[in-house]
Parts: sequence; structure tokens; C-alpha cells
Amino acid sequence: MKRDFLMVTDFSRDEIVEVFELTKDLKRYLREGKEYTPLRGKTMAMIFAKPSARTRISFETGMYQLGGYAIYLSPNDIGIGKREAIKDIARVVSRYNDIIMARLFDHWHIEELARYSSVPVINGLTDLTHPCQVMADLFTVYEKKGRYENIKIAFVGDGSNNVANSWVNMASRMALELVIVTPEAYLPDKSALENARKVGVSEIKIEHDPVKGVSGADVIYTDVWVSMGQESEKEQKMKAFEGFQVNSELLKYAKDDVMVMHCLPAHRGEEITDEVIDGPNSIVFDEAENRLHVQKAIILKLFGLAR
Ligand code: CP
Ligand code: NVA
Repeated sequence: MKRDFLMVTDFSRDEIVEVFELTKDLKRYLREGKEYTPLRGKTMAMIFAKPSARTRISFETGMYQLGGYAIYLSPNDIGIGKREAIKDIARVVSRYNDIIMARLFDHWHIEELARYSSVPVINGLTDLTHPCQVMADLFTVYEKKGRYENIKIAFVGDGSNNVANSWVNMASRMALELVIVTPEAYLPDKSALENARKVGVSEIKIEHDPVKGVSGADVIYTDVWVSMGQESEKEQKMKAFEGFQVNSELLKYAKDDVMVMHCLPAHRGEEITDEVIDGPNSIVFDEAENRLHVQKAIILKLFGLAR
């Protein structure tokens, strides 16, 4: 049976830990200049319906480092669901490539791609979730804190977006204290929240007051207020998130050693100030780097090559 990684919840807690342990090894090999190329002869198709810097670069580089090869297909190339049916693309690409990574709009598009593909499919972001991001994020916390559980994470900003939803999914696998700090109208996906609360491994709170929300936080996490594809909602969202900016005043209410995270790209001066993103509490570039290492481990896991 082929495995896909469409949501954080596609992995069990033990599998997430296994991926993190493998990530540590892969990161060390790279630092030591040790070649590790188990994917020689394997190819990845990378299908993008939205722009990307980190996701494209880290997957392409990661496949190369593992001895494989990755093909970048831009929004103009495949026209998934427009030029051709998703199921046809899935079946064709499966005949050429050993694994697919896709960044799409509707989440059902990636589910359909995975359903009709005979090779593993990795979600490189949809409107609903961004699982690879949050895997890299929690790994980064683990590196800094030496633990991946019993961490208080305050996600400040658009609680309804793909990254916030993925944190909720993560909280249904790992024991976190997760506070989604967001206006009333921007709550996380209802079923993700219900499911995580039913699983019950984490304490998950919704808070509308940023000062209360970040109180005692180990991590303050933020993301853009206007996600890709939401450009027409810009004016409304900019108003709704006024007061939710991560700035040095807000940091005072968290722990002294609070770590500030952002998946990037950042809109400096909107959801986060220059002072904070460039300041001593920011770990955003370690976080960005770890996309590479964690995704290599996820790829190996889907190929059944994780040890
Ligand atoms: N964080 C992230 O996924 O960045 P890109 O949109 O640049 O890939
Ligand atoms: N929420 C953002 C994440 C970008 C990596 C977006 O979807 O645009």
C-alpha cells in the first residue's frame, strides 16, 4: 500500500517522532558532508498551482541530495483541473515519476490526486492545510527546547488559515498547549478542531485577546493575514487583524525566552514588525532551513526507507 502525506494526521505520534529522529540524522549527514543517496534513480514531480520559494527550493534540493531528481511544474504548465482532469494527471504522472508533491488551491484536489495516483503524494500546501510546514516547525522547537511536547504555542493571526489548521492537526498527535489567537470570524476548520479535541492529547484554546493569548507562551507563531488566493479579501482582513500584530510590545507578555516563528513569506509591518522578525527571539530562518531536512525524512518515510 502506498502512503500519502496530505495532513499531519496521516502520521501517528510515533511516526512523527520517527521522522524527527531521521531528520536529525539527515541534517547531521549534510553538515558532515556525508553523502546519503538512497533515492538514486527516483524522480519527483512537483506540481504548483500557487507561487513558492521555500517549498520548491527545499523539495528540489532535498531530492537531489538524496540522489534523486525533481521536476518543477509551474502554475502555467499543468493547469490542474483546468487544462486536464486531476485524475488523468494523477494516472499519467504516476507512470513517469516515483513520488508527487503538489501545492494546490482546493484541498479536495490533492485528495483526488492522491486517490488516482499509484505513487505517494505529498501536500505542499492547500487552502486547508500545510503539513510539511508544521512538521518543520515542531522539529525546530524540538531542536531548540530538547522536547516536542508540553510546549505552549500561541498562533497569533488568521486562525482559519492552512498553517493554523495544521497546528490544530499537530495538536491531535503531539501533546501541546495550543492557543489560537484570532478574531471571532477567523476560527480554525471546525472538523479539525472537533477531531483534535476529541482525541484529547492537547489543550486547545481559542483566544480573541492577543495579550491574554500569548501569556506564558514558549512560542509565538504568526503568518500572513491574507493567504495566497485571498487577495480580494485584503481590505476586510487588514481591518479584522488590526491589533493582532506580533511586535515587541506583545512579546513582553510571553516568556522572556519566547521563540518567534513565521512560516514565511512575511509581510513585514503587517502581521510582524521588522524589530521582532530580525530580533533575538526570532528563529524564522532556522525554521525555514528545517523544511529541507524534515521533508527529506518525510520522503524517505513514504518510500518505506525510514529507520
Ligand atoms: N513557507 C512556505 O511554504 O513558503 P513558500 O510559499 O515560499 O513555499
Ligand atoms: N498561509 C499562507 C502560507 C504561505 C506559506 C498562504 O497560504 O499564503
